[in-house]
Amino acid sequence: MELVFATNNKHKLEEVKKILNNKFKILSLNDINCFEEIPETQKTIKGNASQKAHYIYDKYKKNCFADDTGLEIEALNGEPGVYSARYAGENCSFEDNVKKVLQKLEGIKNRKARFKTVISLIINNKEYLFEGIINGTVIDKKRGKSGFGYDPIFLPDGFNKTFAEMLPEEKNKISHRALATQKLINFLENIRQFRQ
Ligand code: IMP
Repeated sequence: MELVFATNNKHKLEEVKKILNNKFKILSLNDINCFEEIPETQKTIKGNASQKAHYIYDKYKKNCFADDTGLEIEALNGEPGVYSARYAGENCSFEDNVKKVLQKLEGIKNRKARFKTVISLIINNKEYLFEGIINGTVIDKKRGKSGFGYDPIFLPDGFNKTFAEMLPEEKNKISHRALATQKLINFLENIRQFRQ
């Protein structure tokens, strides 16, 4: 089965391709000649995932999925959450966002946070949703060079390495995106069995 992954984020595309491990053929937006920004204007992570997948399905008529992810920090009432990509303002860098989080948490003891990913899958005009959550803490200084986004400041519970200190294959075993993608894989494998 061929599926378009509706993302312009090359880090995510790489991660998801690795997690899917050639079980399904994944096309990128470039592969379907889509070179535009996909709107994500909803107020929730689930809303954005759904909006991105519907945008591609409606325009290109291809079975597809999209993910949306946010870092939810308890002491900041769930911020940056759905605004994770542009927390420090439009066109800001990963670095700017990390700086803003660390500034806002200065002097705050409660460092509990979680990453949440929602995947929206659209097959033959029907939508299915999958969620993955990983709990952890936000440390007070960046550690590690791997990954992207908030990885250098996120320490998953039960580990002493940040996501940015882990090898991609380590992060891809336990991450929010891995958990949601595993649910997607289970679902797709069931459909395949049902069809055979
Ligand atoms: P998006 O809207 O799903 O593309 O993600 C929003 C933002 O969350 C991204 O720009 C990153 O800053 C951050 N983000 C998403 N996934 C991850 C991850 O796996 N690790 C660290 N940060 C992430």
